[in-house]
Amino acid sequence: MTLKNENIYQHLDLMDTQGEKEHLLKQHGHIVWFYGLSGSGKSTLALALEKRLKTEGYLTQILDGDSIRSGLNYDLSFSDKDRAENIRRIAEVAKLFLNAGIVTLTAFITPKIEFRDMAKKIIGSDNISEVYVKCPLEICEARDVKGLYAKAESGHIKEFTGKDSVFEEPTNCDLTIDTKECNIDECIEILYPQIIPQIYFQNRLKSK
Ligand code: ADX
Repeated sequence: MTLKNENIYQHLDLMDTQGEKEHLLKQHGHIVWFYGLSGSGKSTLALALEKRLKTEGYLTQILDGDSIRSGLNYDLSFSDKDRAENIRRIAEVAKLFLNAGIVTLTAFITPKIEFRDMAKKIIGSDNISEVYVKCPLEICEARDVKGLYAKAESGHIKEFTGKDSVFEEPTNCDLTIDTKECNIDECIEILYPQIIPQIYFQNRLKSK
């Protein structure tokens, strides 16, 4: 990557490598990138997957829309330009967790294909599993857990995804989880075996 400021010196050669950290943790770092409409179940799935992985001794970190947008990205709106910047920063943060060997679960709408491609490019395609959390807009609207669809309907929130801001359906993705068809336990039963091969450390149990 070309640095904008030529007076920045990186110390990557002095830092412990990802491999050394993975050896310590007995797991491989990986990013599970959940995306889908607001209310589709991204955060619920991330939490459930984290709980399941924890019982198996995996160290995880969740990054999700509402927490990142009230901290790191508090300055960003929901314009296309700011959503792109939101995803760029999150992908960079996720990469830091990856480099620490941590299984990182992200839950962001990531509404456009170009944003998903950008995240993949930053993170590296081998290190990320994209999971489309599929749920029809009508169901998300009916669930309206946060009351935001009602606000969007009455015009109190602008640029709301699925209403007056686009959500692009994926044309290809690693995995689709349909939260209309499956309950949370069924979703995890589908998801878990897909993720384990990405993070399993050989001889993990023997060497612990
Ligand atoms: S993204 O489009 O940039 O990926 P992100 O996942 O960070 O969005 O944030 C989405 C969360 O912000 C939603 O779950 C919702 O709680 C809240 N939100 C507030 N305003 C909007 C809006 N205009 N569109 C979508 N979500 C919004």
